[in-house]
Amino acid sequence: MAPEGPPQDREKEVWWLQVKVWSMAVISISLLSACFVVSSVVTYSNSVYSKNKKLSKLQEYQQFYSSLTCVIGGKEVEDWSCCPTLWSSFQSSCYFVSAVKQSWAEHWKNCSRMGAALAVISTEDEQDFITQNLNEESAYFMGLSDPEGQRTYCIWVDRTPYNESATFWHSGEPNNPSERCVIVNFRHPSRQWGWNDIDCHEPEKSICEMTKIYL
Ligand SMILES: *[C@@H]1O[C@H](CO)[C@@H](O)[C@H](O)[C@H]1NC(C)=O
Ligand SMILES: *[C@@H]1O[C@H](CO)[C@@H](O)[C@H](O)[C@H]1NC(C)=O
Repeated sequence: MAPEGPPQDREKEVWWLQVKVWSMAVISISLLSACFVVSSVVTYSNSVYSKNKKLSKLQEYQQFYSSLTCVIGGKEVEDWSCCPTLWSSFQSSCYFVSAVKQSWAEHWKNCSRMGAALAVISTEDEQDFITQNLNEESAYFMGLSDPEGQRTYCIWVDRTPYNESATFWHSGEPNNPSERCVIVNFRHPSRQWGWNDIDCHEPEKSICEMTKIYL
């Protein structure tokens, strides 16, 4: 028989080992559940926080727009990107077509009353989106004007620089320095939407644009 000490000591050792293993297991499980509880509480309070933030922002905007239509996922995954209901949305903007015929200046005021501005068209995609639902027989003021009657002074209402190589004038336009406002309309011979300079007092429809609201 090998000298392994008295059988009583062996039993004690095994018992201690079992106690240690079980204690480790219990401690690990407790730690894991503590982590789980903490992370749940953090996630929950974050979602409550972001819900409250959304609600208070929503209340702010309710003074201006009776209802907003939102899409989940904006700049951040948990953001909502919204446009006033009945406005259409494209990339980071919302658009509204005003079918009332009035001067450029009246449209300018109407758009700004709605927290928007006359539309600034910067790309062909944007123009294609805006014009897809417009009436081919109508003309629509946009945010481009030439207040001094100097072709080089064309400015957008939001003061983005006028970029000659991102313009969509109809051929032969602009053609008259006394026509200081710009419309987008459809021309049948070329079957294209494009820009034309017209008299600012001529009553036409318009397109307003605003940046999407992120809740
Ligand atoms: C724009 O304002 C005029 C008054 O200046 C008003 O008669 C018209 O209904 C308004 N149009 C829109 C689309 O808000
Ligand atoms: C002007 O428009 C062209 C064509 O879309 C674009 O490549 C260029 O970056 C624009 N320039 C500025 C200064 O925005």
